[in-house]
Amino acid sequence: MPLRLPPPASSAPAHSCCTRPASPTPTCRRTRADGREVAALLAAAGECDFVVDATVGGLIHSDVRTRITGNGKRMLFVAEPNDVLERLMGSGELRASVERAGSKLRGGSILRVTNAAGMDLTADISGEDLPITHQWGYVDEPGRWDHWPSGFAACFPRDRSAEGQIVLQPGDALIPWQRYVRDEVTISVSKGFITEIAGGADAHVLNDYFESWEDPEVWALSHMGWGLLPQARWSAFDVYDPRSLYGRELRSTAGNFMWSTGSNRFADRETPAHLDVPMRSCTVEIDGVAVVSNGSPVEV
Ligand SMILES: [Fe+2]
Repeated sequence: MPLRLPPPASSAPAHSCCTRPASPTPTCRRTRADGREVAALLAAAGECDFVVDATVGGLIHSDVRTRITGNGKRMLFVAEPNDVLERLMGSGELRASVERAGSKLRGGSILRVTNAAGMDLTADISGEDLPITHQWGYVDEPGRWDHWPSGFAACFPRDRSAEGQIVLQPGDALIPWQRYVRDEVTISVSKGFITEIAGGADAHVLNDYFESWEDPEVWALSHMGWGLLPQARWSAFDVYDPRSLYGRELRSTAGNFMWSTGSNRFADRETPAHLDVPMRSCTVEIDGVAVVSNGSPVEV
């Protein structure tokens, strides 16, 4: 019988697709308990065939998830309003599209992302052991974890391999802040870490957020990939009350490029500080072959 983990009492805005809630508090960096520390709950989850994770932040990048799915249990994270869930159901067609994208990542060596604003970022994605995430929004096999709704493929590039600059444009998104970028931001990246954030108000806010943690690990880049869910809309943060959303829709928009910061269990980097940043109108290439062209997925 499915076990539904009770959400915590807090109604704080959800953190991104990784680890814990990271909504700003008076100190701008504290986190709240989300249920993963409750040993009895976790022990019970291990006895179930199918676990629905309804914690605020999701047990995504924690060892709790690994322990549950490692025992062959299916696990589905659910955190969006009902109408979003209904509208963004996955499908076999979506699954096939996500798996093709994952194969492209698996076979690649260099991921390069550009946009018309001057972005030019590269990362090493070589190797058979490259960690790749395939999400299509449902769990149809033992040991599988997914997040409903979803539709994207992503990888964790070789740690400290990302180089170049990211240029955010108005309309790109900042999650879990659940809002759009307001002005252009230039983010310099060296050896996998953000070294400078330049621009106007949003650059000031991003610098302030990262500095508040007083932890060099929060400046690291984490997973990178692109969205493939045709129904997902960029306008969701304005159409809905954004604080009612977890942000899955923006993460999955077809043809986005989404990168992230901080948490990376494959680099032994577990910090509650984690932003997911879906970007529009990017071109994503793997070894010189476009998989996303100016914001549209390239299917072959
Ligand atoms: Fe994430």
